[in-house]
Amino acid sequence: MAEKSKILIIGGTGYIGKFIVEASAQSGHPTFALLRESTVSDPAKAKLVEGFKNSGVTILIGDLNDRESLVNAIKQVDVVISAVGQMQLADQVNIIAAIKEAGNVKRFLPSEFGNDVDRARAVEPAKSAWAIKVGIRRAIEAEGIPYTYVSSNYFAGYSLTTLMQPGLPPPPRDKVTILGDGNAKGTKSSFKMLIVDNLSTSKEKID
Ligand SMILES: NC(=O)c1ccc[n+]([C@@H]2O[C@H](COP(=O)([O-])OP(=O)(O)OC[C@H]3O[C@@H](n4cnc5c(N)ncnc54)[C@H](OP(=O)(O)O)[C@@H]3O)[C@@H](O)[C@H]2O)c1
Repeated sequence: MAEKSKILIIGGTGYIGKFIVEASAQSGHPTFALLRESTVSDPAKAKLVEGFKNSGVTILIGDLNDRESLVNAIKQVDVVISAVGQMQLADQVNIIAAIKEAGNVKRFLPSEFGNDVDRARAVEPAKSAWAIKVGIRRAIEAEGIPYTYVSSNYFAGYSLTTLMQPGLPPPPRDKVTILGDGNAKGTKSSFKMLIVDNLSTSKEKID
């Protein structure tokens, strides 16, 4: 049986990243999580980090802004998955540079996990974040790094706890803005994920 690829997740303690770390470890991939020292010593993250260790995940101390730690971590794996948050999206140029320096990576999945930013249109504030994701895509392609972009559209659960009130701690207790008369019907579509990579010219849709 072919050996499972070794996977490094950067941003593994985030909203999305923790599921990726868990899924990678459960699938039997040797899994590595690059975490900052401050994250590992954060009591609020202790349970999550302990769970990673119990699942056999190797914790590597590093930082998106520390080139040496990135290169050292990347040299140990075949696949790099970034799940860094919106504020760190632009800093993924550091991962691209480190992948080039390490020279061993078979595939890079940048932090996407939303709309297909090359095809969808957005208004602010999403527009600016999407522009950064587009820039990272072009930088990866310019460097000739094998890539996969995972476009999983919007997770309704992300905003449900705040009742769609961005920036408020969930649940908002003082004031809730109800759009319209509050009786508008919502729509729900089935989950669709678009995977775009440089392995084939066709786009694969997964229901
Ligand atoms: N489709 C949707 O509905 C949806 C919803 C949410 C997010 N997303 C997308 O999913 C991706 C991840 O977003 P998220 O909300 O899950 O992110 P997040 O919760 O903000 O998590 C960011 C992660 O990056 C880590 N990090 C921050 N600075 C770092 C540094 N300097 N070095 C190393 N690690 C660092 C954080 O570590 P700490 O734990 O130490 O802070 C955390 O693990 C984004 O591309 C976002 O656009 C999509």
